[in-house]
Amino acid sequence: MEIIEKAPAKINLGLDILGKRPDGYHDLEMIMASVDLADKLIINELPQDKIIVRTNATFLPVDEKNNVYQAVALVKEQFGIKQGLSVEIKKTIPVAAGLGGGSSDAAAVLRGVNKLWRLGLSKQELSDIGFNVGTDVPYCVHGTTAFVAGRGEIVEPLPPMPQCWVVIVKPQFSVSTRKIFADFDMTGIEHPDIPGLKASILEQDYDKMISLMGNSMERATMQRRPVVREIKEKMMKYGADAALMSGSGPTVFGLCQNYSRAKRVYNAFRGFCKEVHLVRTINQ
Ligand code: C5P
Repeated sequence: MEIIEKAPAKINLGLDILGKRPDGYHDLEMIMASVDLADKLIINELPQDKIIVRTNATFLPVDEKNNVYQAVALVKEQFGIKQGLSVEIKKTIPVAAGLGGGSSDAAAVLRGVNKLWRLGLSKQELSDIGFNVGTDVPYCVHGTTAFVAGRGEIVEPLPPMPQCWVVIVKPQFSVSTRKIFADFDMTGIEHPDIPGLKASILEQDYDKMISLMGNSMERATMQRRPVVREIKEKMMKYGADAALMSGSGPTVFGLCQNYSRAKRVYNAFRGFCKEVHLVRTINQ
């Protein structure tokens, strides 16, 4: 049986870093939402006991370093599964971009093997396995707008964020989340109002939501990479309602309720950056 799973990208409407923990990770509070920009996973069982990962993104590892490989290996080990698996990842989400593509792929393969091998696992159980693979996997298992806290393992579902168009612009460089966190200086960082942002989504108040969007990591990245600031300013100049760096960057997303404005922002970046997308929020 062949299983096809979609793996949508996420954006951070809010990201606050509360502090560094004794285990070296950081306590976070985030509001995350998924957008209609997705990788596609084609999953097939193999008779022999091995895991084969293939992808059109030829620069990605396909061995134990790949998130999808790791997620499948964990399930096989935990449930003593001797069948193998082949997974083809058709990548569309920009890589190492702050859009959670690798985590979403891992969440998608977990959903896929749950069906294929009839494991009957709940979302919480899939999240618990996926959290060993990456911080954003529990959110991606859930998949729609949510408040996320702790190291990333606490996921509280929210109603879908107010619908709008999302312009996604990924500058040509990539960033390593691990490296950014490793020398992250907490002094004087901005703390977005995450409870307020959460309330705005519960109230479905778009104007309040865009006024409270914020990312604690944005300023430090902009200082090192001024192009991130330039993209954000250009998005606002061309009519986005709001613009923000997603996750640890460097992708910037702009929100527009009005389609022709979104198209204008999108057109302004085509030719300026290679990876530009105009998508919709996921409303389910
Ligand atoms: O889990 P993920 O691979 O996305 O995390 C990448 C790195 O980001 C971790 O190895 C860790 O250094 C850092 N991190 C952190 N605090 C978190 C999540 C990630 O310091 N809550």
